[in-house]
Amino acid sequence: MKKFHSILFLCVLSGSLMLFFSCGKKTATEEEISQMKEEPKMDVQRQEFGQLPDGQLVDLYVLTNGNGMEARIMTYGATLVSLSVPDKEGNFADITLGCDSLEGYLAASPYFGATVGRYANRIAKGKFILDGVEYTLAANNGENHLHGGSKGYDKVLWQAGTIRRENEVGAKFVYLSKDDEEGYPGNLNCAVTYMLTDRDELKIGYEAETDKPTPVNLTHHSYFNLAGQGNGYILDHELMLNADQYTPVDAGLIPTGEIRDVAGTPMDFTIPHTIGERIAQVEGGYDHNFVLRSGGGELELAARVSEPRSGRIMEVYTTEPGIQFYSGNFLDGSITGKAGKVYYKHYGFCLEPQHFPDSPNKPDFPSAILRPGETYQTQTTLKFSIE
Ligand code: BGC
Repeated sequence: MKKFHSILFLCVLSGSLMLFFSCGKKTATEEEISQMKEEPKMDVQRQEFGQLPDGQLVDLYVLTNGNGMEARIMTYGATLVSLSVPDKEGNFADITLGCDSLEGYLAASPYFGATVGRYANRIAKGKFILDGVEYTLAANNGENHLHGGSKGYDKVLWQAGTIRRENEVGAKFVYLSKDDEEGYPGNLNCAVTYMLTDRDELKIGYEAETDKPTPVNLTHHSYFNLAGQGNGYILDHELMLNADQYTPVDAGLIPTGEIRDVAGTPMDFTIPHTIGERIAQVEGGYDHNFVLRSGGGELELAARVSEPRSGRIMEVYTTEPGIQFYSGNFLDGSITGKAGKVYYKHYGFCLEPQHFPDSPNKPDFPSAILRPGETYQTQTTLKFSIE
């Protein structure tokens, strides 16, 4: 009898325990479901992205806002790796070309999403004279210097930290570019800050200080496709550029020094046109610096792009006096990017706010020289909406 009671007791106990644990499990599942349904929130997280061949770790900063937008930026090249934006149906897509892994960026990247410096775009023959001294930079684009040289700021590891404010989150990336790096004079302390706001803006701020006079021109080099990265040509995107003039170039894409009116030419985007409408009339495709009406200094609208099917709109605001509009002419299908997508010619476009190319050799262009005691400070904001 005693034995029977013990067995009964054990059965009741194990039954209750089973019931207890199954109830506990049920509650956990409900929690999981409610977590899955949780509203997106403003946040910034650091993750590991990869490792450089010399063993240094590359981090990824993931910025999210309350509307579900997400920007991922890695410390290698202070590079925007992805930017997820909704379309008119509320479906999110990554609208920047790039690679799934760090290895992809190391193998072949035509500056996908990168921070470009010390001098964005070209300096003729990699030479300039400053205060009577001639400097020679790396020639990495034929005889010319492009985007900071063989190892520009897109190919160095930046140090980073997170920023949290009431209506925006972000990350600040810093890099010390040593005196004589790629031939440039002066130690340049640089910082790039990416902030994602609750108004669907990605704000990119640049700061720099030097101990010797030096040219400085920092920009952002994302290739955009508002239909989603890898989803075809950008030729049907509508573009407005707030520029009445542009700087014509020679065969090596060096400005001739002339500032020419866009009126009556395929360079006139003061009224929106599709990128493809007149591109055949532009030898090689668009790869030109446009002279912004603002003249630089204040944060003003430089460009507006819309993609008809998705309804996505991107506006570019900048304090820079110029913007390079590049229609992805050198993409040639040799790179397989994110999600196995192959990037063909005109699969992405760049809008790179900047000082004019080759300014160190063009005294009539706005000066791009930073001197000791001054602070270089520029700002570009990408604002997203739908129509
Ligand atoms: C330049 C192009 C160049 C591309 C990738 C753009 O900023 O204007 O000429 O091919 O970057 O390097």
